[in-house]
Amino acid sequence: MKKCAEIIKLSSIAGLMMVFMLSSCGQTDTHPGQPVTKRKAIFKQFLRTVEPMGQVMRGRKPYNQAEFLQQAMKLQSLSTQPWKYFTPDSNYSPTRAKPDVWDKPAQFKQAQQKFIAATNKLVSSAQTGNLDVIRPDFAGVEQSCKACHQQFRGIPH
Ligand code: HEC
Repeated sequence: MKKCAEIIKLSSIAGLMMVFMLSSCGQTDTHPGQPVTKRKAIFKQFLRTVEPMGQVMRGRKPYNQAEFLQQAMKLQSLSTQPWKYFTPDSNYSPTRAKPDVWDKPAQFKQAQQKFIAATNKLVSSAQTGNLDVIRPDFAGVEQSCKACHQQFRGIPH
């Protein structure tokens, strides 16, 4: 496990490399129901869904109303999914969840609700097709990801 953590640190500079090296750490989740593996897979989908919208926001990709709305709706449907996998017995390696997830459940719940609300708002603004309306709501989604990570996500353990 220590080796994996080192690889992550070293290769964080190397962007894409990290993905390959991480997968070569090759740990099997032997815990019943595999909650850590399942929630991580959903968070990865969060990222994959947010990234193309972020590219549009930064002017690196042309804005297409239908496509953007579809991505916002995808994020909306994902937004409620990871939380049920934070079960009481799911604080095991290689999770990055901080103890606060289990020690401050009300705050963790509130961070989820903020994020879900921000995602719902983004879907509404995406329906307007107006980038000036969308922009602050997309920023609100990113902010709610970040806020939760600051309190509840740390280094792998
Ligand atoms: C309510 C809290 C919360 C919100 C909101 C949240 N995350 Fe996370 N996220 C976490 C926690 C906790 C982990 C660590 C999970 C683990 O390792 O067990 C995590 C892990 C991740 C990971 C790493 C997955 C992996 O393979 O290790 C990614 C990527 C991620 N989140 C992206 C996002 C994005 C993008 C958003 C917003 C669209 C978001 N998260 C919103 C709490 C949150």
